[in-house]
Amino acid sequence: QADVFTYDPGFTSTASCESAITYIDGEEGVLLHRGYPIDQLAGKSHFLEVCYLLLYGELPSAAQLEDFEKRVTNHTMVHEQMHRFFTGFRRDAHPMAVMVGVVGAMSAFYHDSTDISDPWHREVASIRLIAKMPTIAAMAYKYSIGQPFVYPRNDLDYASNFLRMCFAVPAEEYQVDPILSRAMDRIFTLHADHEQNASTSTVRLASSSGANPFACIAAGIACLWGPAHGGANQAALESLKEIGTPDRIPEFIARAKDKDDPFRLMGFGHRVYKNFDPRAKVMKQSADEVLDLLGVENNPILAVAKELEKQALADDYFVDRKLFPNVDFYSGIILEAMGFPTSMFTPIFALSRTVGWISQWKEMIEDPGMKIGRPRQLYTGATARDYVEVENR
Ligand code: SDX
Repeated sequence: QADVFTYDPGFTSTASCESAITYIDGEEGVLLHRGYPIDQLAGKSHFLEVCYLLLYGELPSAAQLEDFEKRVTNHTMVHEQMHRFFTGFRRDAHPMAVMVGVVGAMSAFYHDSTDISDPWHREVASIRLIAKMPTIAAMAYKYSIGQPFVYPRNDLDYASNFLRMCFAVPAEEYQVDPILSRAMDRIFTLHADHEQNASTSTVRLASSSGANPFACIAAGIACLWGPAHGGANQAALESLKEIGTPDRIPEFIARAKDKDDPFRLMGFGHRVYKNFDPRAKVMKQSADEVLDLLGVENNPILAVAKELEKQALADDYFVDRKLFPNVDFYSGIILEAMGFPTSMFTPIFALSRTVGWISQWKEMIEDPGMKIGRPRQLYTGATARDYVEVENR
């Protein structure tokens, strides 16, 4: 049984919480979703099955999975009026800014799934968010490049639908590449949930007041955007490109170690993992596979990433601080090879993590002992003192 934090009866806070969804052992580099190791799920399962597992706690039967996939598929379109929210943004708006705005706006659209006291509302909100996030992310991408929105289709699987909504154009039929779809689906799975990370804690804290679930997910998207969190995948690839060639690696390792230099090795280090992030291992294997299959096995950036990892993990600074590659270190290389711009890396993380946010939200909301979150502070300010009139200051 995993060690879990327990509520301190002395105060009502979500600063620590009990959860049965995801277990991480940072020292051993272990990640379990409802008890199943992430490498087994990434290798043997697929994203919608993992969504079912995270939401309901058990792997589905064939009939349960078919029903769940059908329910998600039938909710992939967004309300036609939501298209107007996109046109209010400048074309160069970051897709994460668009996703925060549009998902927040969903709180004003789907009134039949916002009453969190109603189990049916909670269920529909969960399905809607999982189903519509790829559509919204793809629409944000299409809007940013000035191409028409592509509607989701019911005859495609989740990952293929997302790729088609991103890359199809009216002028020609999009050919689904099963290799890319498999790689995309695996990336979704690797990002699905990760215990009480910053964005999940944001969703829990916002939801603890009973707020609209769509607005709470928008808060999670905002938190994930930061470069120390989900924004690291975009920053990691940009760092690797800045390094450019293996001979420049020592210079950047020195910069990462220099306290006066703001440069950090993005995609390295973790709040919890003080060993290899198990997701990074799977991502690294996928990078090799996908790039080979895409015929870009000699990708220069992958060569820089592997050499950087090798040199950093031989350097006492990183070894002493237990800084290993995390999930963001290799993901950008795969996503860029698949045709995504760096600005779409974090939106892809957000659409993947939506099931984690929603599963943790559902677990908390359905806990009869739930109380509004109230993280504690350690007061370091002035002691009590009397007011002084301005003429006497
Ligand atoms: C994600 O929580 C989650 O689960 C998140 C996530 C998820 O799935 O939700 O796993 C996803 O956010 C992964 C992390 C992505 N972020 C990055 O890759 C950004 C680069 N990494 C760092 O910013 C940092 O490692 C953090 C934010 C990830 C972790 O920060 P910590 O654990 O608070 O570490 P720290 O900032 O206290 O650093 C400890 C030491 C410091 O040096 P000293 O003061 O001890 O001398 O390690 C150094 C830091 O300067 N350090 C780094 C470094 N990360 C930490 N030095 C160089 N490069 C780095 N990447």
